[in-house]
Amino acid sequence: MKNLVRPRLNRILESRVLAGVAGLVTALLIALLSVVHQTPAAERPGTDASVLETGRRIYREGILPSGQVLQGLAPAKVRLAGQDAACITCHRRSGYGSSEGPVEIRPITGPTLFGAQLTPVTADLVSTHTDPEALASAGLSLAQAARLNAGTLRFARTAAFAGTRQRPVYDDTALARAIREGVDVTGRALSPSMPRYALEPDEMASLAAYLKTLSLRVSPGVTADTIHFATVIQPGTDPVRRDALLQVLRTFMQDRNLGMRTEIRRETAGTVRLKRTYREWVLHVWDLSGTSDTWAQQLEAYDRAQPVFAMVSGLGNASWRPIHEFSERYEIPCIFPQVDVPVLAERDFYTVYLSRGMTLEAQALARFLHSEGERGAVMQVYGNDEASVAAAGAFRLAWTTATGVAPVSRVLDTVPDAAFWQKLSRQIPHVTLVLWLPPQDMVRAQALMAAGSQVRMVYLSASLMTGQRTGLAAIADSRVRLIYPQDLPAVRDTRVELARRWMHNKGIALSDEKSQMNAYLAATVVGMLVSHSMDTYSREFLLEGIEHRLGTALELSIYPHLSLGPGQRYASKGSYIVQVDGPADWQLRPVSGWIVP
Ligand code: HEC
Repeated sequence: MKNLVRPRLNRILESRVLAGVAGLVTALLIALLSVVHQTPAAERPGTDASVLETGRRIYREGILPSGQVLQGLAPAKVRLAGQDAACITCHRRSGYGSSEGPVEIRPITGPTLFGAQLTPVTADLVSTHTDPEALASAGLSLAQAARLNAGTLRFARTAAFAGTRQRPVYDDTALARAIREGVDVTGRALSPSMPRYALEPDEMASLAAYLKTLSLRVSPGVTADTIHFATVIQPGTDPVRRDALLQVLRTFMQDRNLGMRTEIRRETAGTVRLKRTYREWVLHVWDLSGTSDTWAQQLEAYDRAQPVFAMVSGLGNASWRPIHEFSERYEIPCIFPQVDVPVLAERDFYTVYLSRGMTLEAQALARFLHSEGERGAVMQVYGNDEASVAAAGAFRLAWTTATGVAPVSRVLDTVPDAAFWQKLSRQIPHVTLVLWLPPQDMVRAQALMAAGSQVRMVYLSASLMTGQRTGLAAIADSRVRLIYPQDLPAVRDTRVELARRWMHNKGIALSDEKSQMNAYLAATVVGMLVSHSMDTYSREFLLEGIEHRLGTALELSIYPHLSLGPGQRYASKGSYIVQVDGPADWQLRPVSGWIVP
């Protein structure tokens, strides 16, 4: 429908402009008209890719084409250099800036500096203001007119949000003056918190070329009426968890879409005008198969078939590295995948994890044992799956660092029988045993308890036991404790009550509460941020929003605290140690506070 509307709309607008009907078409819209089909600088002939690359390095890394570091002069003649001076440090990767603290860091995206509208993925994404009468005479319905009006409101809101209405647009000369002398396009002195940079003309030209492309386009995966999302599932994932996760994500999106359709119906009936643009959310399930070295290819094929705006939640027991690297390489956000083995790389941008997974658990346990004054023999037994190996490696390091003594470590290649455990428990009397075992092996700890009266205490990972409630019954014993990186059941239940009620109302049975709550968390966080991002549809802005807002909006989650700072990628940072008094959730008794290693 919109494809039909577009050319007509242009004609109407042009005739209005030519007729000079004052007040009807604002300067804003004239600017808009002239840039609707503007090609991004990156694709303009004459803008060399290497020029953009130079600009990008200045902006993101603070490195000049000579290889020397960028230098800036901050207040009180403080010299900033390299990453500290890089524009990204304040204006962020998206260029939308931020308003943390007392200083407003202004947006410097291509459109906000140079006055261009976001270049739509499809031309019909841009709609604009016109008066309903004119539209009617052009054969457009009131509903269509309302929808176009909504587009104008959207543009005005985005513009107000981005600050472009507060000043005229920049050109290259004005930009250079702002960067060199700290004087903005209106002649106002910029706050000294914007550093001054003595850039050479060619450096300035590269930086300006880069800024012209910055957040110029709506991110892929967003079309005129749809936003595409994916959720990635590793092979070998428990089908019950997979179904539980998909049901929550699908229901959440259906719910949202239903609300949207209601809005459109009300709009068509003429009772309301849309105040922002609505798009259907579509979920794609990216099931992976085969060995992990083939996953990148599979992901690329999925993304070619249908690009997505972001990956939401996801499941897997093996290392998340192939998906993490795909997300980083293609600059596609991956929000809260449910994984035991995240990639521990603080400098990466596009994947945001719930926690550091097994590494967090291992470090929390080492901290706990050390603070308890544990001085006897500590032995860890672990499976040869990736999660267990990661945990054992992290525990070895943390324990050795804390005590100067390495734990005894034993890897299991085969599933051990009862005799193995009996022998083990006799080998080192009064041992404190740490078991990093996949769920199917975990219940075997029972054999150990039966045999090993010598064992002082056994520590298990709650994450590795996910979905193994029966396992918990088997191991309930006064000498069994769990590393429990989420909130205690009683507290958690109160917090997630609303989410539970939502699931109940939608007919979703609680088949795997942890996976479901985490899926719900990922969906609500993305939902909230997309709604609040003023139709910018920038993947980078989405991630910056998560950094900024997570933990401030009373998210319903199973974790006691969630927070991220700029550049942080692990939202929940601690763990409890609990005693297993019995198989029920309420029989988990904390023996530690919230440990943040
Ligand atoms: C230490 C933080 C910081 C760094 C680093 C920084 N800026 Fe800024 N910048 C600011 C602040 C704060 C403002 C807003 C000042 C004001 O409004 O008075 C600003 C404003 C601007 C403006 C004016 C925007 C407008 O709307 O008029 C431009 C252009 C700009 N910065 C470009 C850059 C470029 C290019 C770089 C990197 C070479 C950079 N900035 C690095 C903090 C920073």
